[in-house]
Amino acid sequence: MSKLYMLCFLLCFSMYPCKSNFQNVLLMVADDGGFEMGAYLNKICQAPNLDKLAKKSLIFSNAFTSVSSCSPSRSAILTGLPAHQNGMYGLHQGVHHFNSFDKIHSLPKLLQKHNIRTGIIGKKHVGPKQVYSFDFEETEENNSILQVGRNITKIKLLVRKFLQQNQSQPFFLYVGFHDPHRCGHTHPEYGNFCEKFGNGEPGMGLIPDWEPIYYQPDQLKVPYFVQDTVAAHEDIAAQYTTISRLDQGVGLVLKELENAGVLENTLVMYTSDNGIPFPSGRTNFYDPGMAEPFLLSSPRKDDRHNEVTYSMTSLLDIVPTVLDWFNVSYPEGSELTGISLLPLLKQEPKEDKRAVFGSHNHHEVTMYYPMRVIRTKRYKLIHNMNYKMPFPIDQDFYLSQSFQDLLNRTQSKQPLFWYKTLQDYYYRSEWELYDLKYDPNESRNLAEKSSYKAVLTDLKQQLTQWQVKTLDPWICSPHGVLENQGLFKDHPSCLPLHNEL
Ligand SMILES: *[C@@H]1O[C@H](CO)[C@@H](O)[C@H](O)[C@H]1NC(C)=O
Ligand SMILES: *[C@@H]1O[C@H](CO)[C@@H](O)[C@H](O)[C@H]1NC(C)=O
Ligand SMILES: *[C@@H]1O[C@H](CO)[C@@H](O)[C@H](O)[C@H]1NC(C)=O
Ligand SMILES: *[C@@H]1O[C@H](CO)[C@@H](O)[C@H](O)[C@H]1NC(C)=O
Ligand SMILES: *[C@@H]1O[C@H](CO)[C@@H](O)[C@H](O)[C@H]1NC(C)=O
Ligand SMILES: *[C@@H]1O[C@H](CO)[C@@H](O)[C@H](O)[C@H]1NC(C)=O
Repeated sequence: MSKLYMLCFLLCFSMYPCKSNFQNVLLMVADDGGFEMGAYLNKICQAPNLDKLAKKSLIFSNAFTSVSSCSPSRSAILTGLPAHQNGMYGLHQGVHHFNSFDKIHSLPKLLQKHNIRTGIIGKKHVGPKQVYSFDFEETEENNSILQVGRNITKIKLLVRKFLQQNQSQPFFLYVGFHDPHRCGHTHPEYGNFCEKFGNGEPGMGLIPDWEPIYYQPDQLKVPYFVQDTVAAHEDIAAQYTTISRLDQGVGLVLKELENAGVLENTLVMYTSDNGIPFPSGRTNFYDPGMAEPFLLSSPRKDDRHNEVTYSMTSLLDIVPTVLDWFNVSYPEGSELTGISLLPLLKQEPKEDKRAVFGSHNHHEVTMYYPMRVIRTKRYKLIHNMNYKMPFPIDQDFYLSQSFQDLLNRTQSKQPLFWYKTLQDYYYRSEWELYDLKYDPNESRNLAEKSSYKAVLTDLKQQLTQWQVKTLDPWICSPHGVLENQGLFKDHPSCLPLHNEL
């Protein structure tokens, strides 16, 4: 008999009903979601369900993804390993076809070994199957992504089905919303952000549980990294309407857990895979691409609730946190760089010198733009290895009203009402260093400033150490070649290319 069964057995004969003694985890991941909720000080976008969850959560103000791209980020969330270490260098679907390595440990597989039931509902977007397998799967692999990812009535019913099965085991349930992802590229008939899908208008179908919230484009404030034009305002208004579907979906999922009597012993997490699909957002390591909402709601009464933590946090911390919650250890022979977030539920650390790291290689297969990043509370250093090439733009963002507007205005030499020019956006320096205390918008690159030399050296050193620790194949790029076999077996070396002009 496993320890858990034993525990249940004992408790069943004491004072509690069996079911409610299990400790479960619910992880909800938005798709390209940002800070569009009151809890994160957005006063316009209405997200009452997320705000309600935030009231019961520790609210992270310094949480960052390790890669600002869908499949790589999801693979990192589910393995605790950065993309360059788990092998998911870019998007998984279609021609992109990226996959993690066959021998990588994934969270669902680790938990299954300990008799924890695992489920995924909605967007999966990672592979191969044998690495990422859940006991219960209703994903885009055998459903319409619009149904399992955006139809919140359908999602509600699938969560209900999951909770009705095998009630004797603790569970880990991953809900991957497809909202608020754009859809002008794949389903333009439903609007820029699929904000019309299921709204009951002719041809749009009906999502019975969704009450869309509409916004006046001219009443919105665009974030600082989006141009202040009519086109961008309309784009944001559509995104906000789609947020209302995500938000109500979150409410429905939580309600299902409550109705099943398991919410009171479930650790709930909410976050997003990467930044919002706007300039400097998704596919970038600027904060709009890298910073994520993160809510951690503990069912334990004496844990911190409705408080903000400023501790530096990475989405690579999710695996260690869930393993810690279930008292499961990571297999010997490999090591994670993330840390459990459970101690933060008790108290804020006295001192937080922690740095978080990121590693980006591709988004689409054609978008080779390797970058590495280190971010501390005060500073950010980005290494753009392909700095001689223009920064690539993905198919989805390219067709967006916001990007088309930037292109049109640039072509016709009209004012952009933006904090950058397209030229700056495309052509980046090899090293970008920002002092976020004085420059939160990352507009002044200090990498060449002599007064920041010591800071630069220190950050470069920490970044290199992380790359070594996580076995980064790009460790010598772009000015050297890594030799680590044959003559170099015992002393791996970066041999110089002498390619710096
Ligand atoms: C439920 O448990 C049974 C027996 O352990 C197993 O065969 C089945 O796959 C489980 N179903 C799900 C959805 O976890
Ligand atoms: C999708 O596949 C899973 C197994 O991977 C299966 O349990 C489920 O019933 C399938 N759903 C549909 C709609 O075919
Ligand atoms: C959403 O799902 C529900 C339940 O499966 C279904 O009745 C409804 O028609 C779906 N709505 C759309 C827009 O597909
Ligand atoms: C994990 O261990 C702690 C302390 O030993 C215990 O309170 C908790 O119930 C355990 N959790 C699970 C899911 O077994
Ligand atoms: C950009 O210009 C094209 C061609 O003139 C036009 O069709 C399109 O509507 C414009 N888009 C925006 C967002 O300004
Ligand atoms: C820069 O950042 C500040 C604080 O975050 C913000 O209020 C301001 O609007 C931003 N402006 C520009 C042009 O970057």
